[in-house]
Amino acid sequence: MSDIKKRPVILDCDPGEDDAVCMFMMLASQQFELLGITPVCGNKTLLYCEKNALRLLELTGHTEIPVYKGADRSMARGVRTAGNVHGNTGLGPVVLPEPKIQTQDTYAWEFIYEMAKKYPHELEILAVGPLTNLGKAFLLFPELPKLIKQVVIMGGAAGLGNWTAAAEFNIWADPEAAKIVFNAKVPMVMMALEICFMAYVSPDDLKAIRGDGTGIIANVTADLLTRRVDFGLARGAKGGILCDAVAATYMIDPSLIEVEEVEVDVDTQGELTVGKTVIARDYTELYKIKPNTKNGIGINREAFIDLLIKSVKTLDEKLSH
Ligand code: BDR
Ligand code: CA
Repeated sequence: MSDIKKRPVILDCDPGEDDAVCMFMMLASQQFELLGITPVCGNKTLLYCEKNALRLLELTGHTEIPVYKGADRSMARGVRTAGNVHGNTGLGPVVLPEPKIQTQDTYAWEFIYEMAKKYPHELEILAVGPLTNLGKAFLLFPELPKLIKQVVIMGGAAGLGNWTAAAEFNIWADPEAAKIVFNAKVPMVMMALEICFMAYVSPDDLKAIRGDGTGIIANVTADLLTRRVDFGLARGAKGGILCDAVAATYMIDPSLIEVEEVEVDVDTQGELTVGKTVIARDYTELYKIKPNTKNGIGINREAFIDLLIKSVKTLDEKLSH
């Protein structure tokens, strides 16, 4: 693996319980050169998301990875957060110390542009929060989209939303930014709510993730997931979901996820549908789609859980050496 060129990637996120697991998976994979993390206001205000990113890097021993200053509010709708969905601090029941490392002075959108120029047609962006940082980058630097290899997001919903009847949280939190990103003519991959529900974590999976209970990352991951599993079970599901980890899975092993080419745009005007990802399939002769996105429609759930367990074990092994 060491002779293989690593894939340059930026993780744009709003940690967040499932963002934390997504980060663990990306840190564990040997495929990537994680150039930096660009937190954004989303699950919590920017300050919390920033601090959580720093805390998680310290926890995993990856203090070499820089964190950049992201957007502290949406492009047109002020500060939008997910309230207490991810607990008081954003990391549910997990309490981590105040971080010692600090955020860089550079803004996220400047960093993204610099990295795209440094790695033209190679840079990949994994974005699992509201798309404000990326939307700003595309607005400020019009030549940016054509320099980027792909943007993989967790966001959107073909059917029901999870934040409003129509909209999924990440897109609802900054619909204007999401519209810019989907229309930027950059290769887009979307893991929307539907595929996240397919990738549930069952109570047995949770036990397997915790393992013998001695791994720091295994325990943190299991703690982050316990509430989610209970929440899902209480609502008749087979387990809990951790959306952002599905997007990480696509990055690490796209063969685990089936995608279809669709056309996606974002509603920024609708009274009831603002933040809706409007998804068109090539169903009909009447409407010829212009595909701009690969949308996840199926996942090998068992392999996804295996990858998750392998990732936490890898991080724990690294920590124990
Ligand atoms: C998305 O919203 C956030 O709460 C999660 O971190 C995930 O990115 C799911 O709708
Ligand atoms: Ca997120």
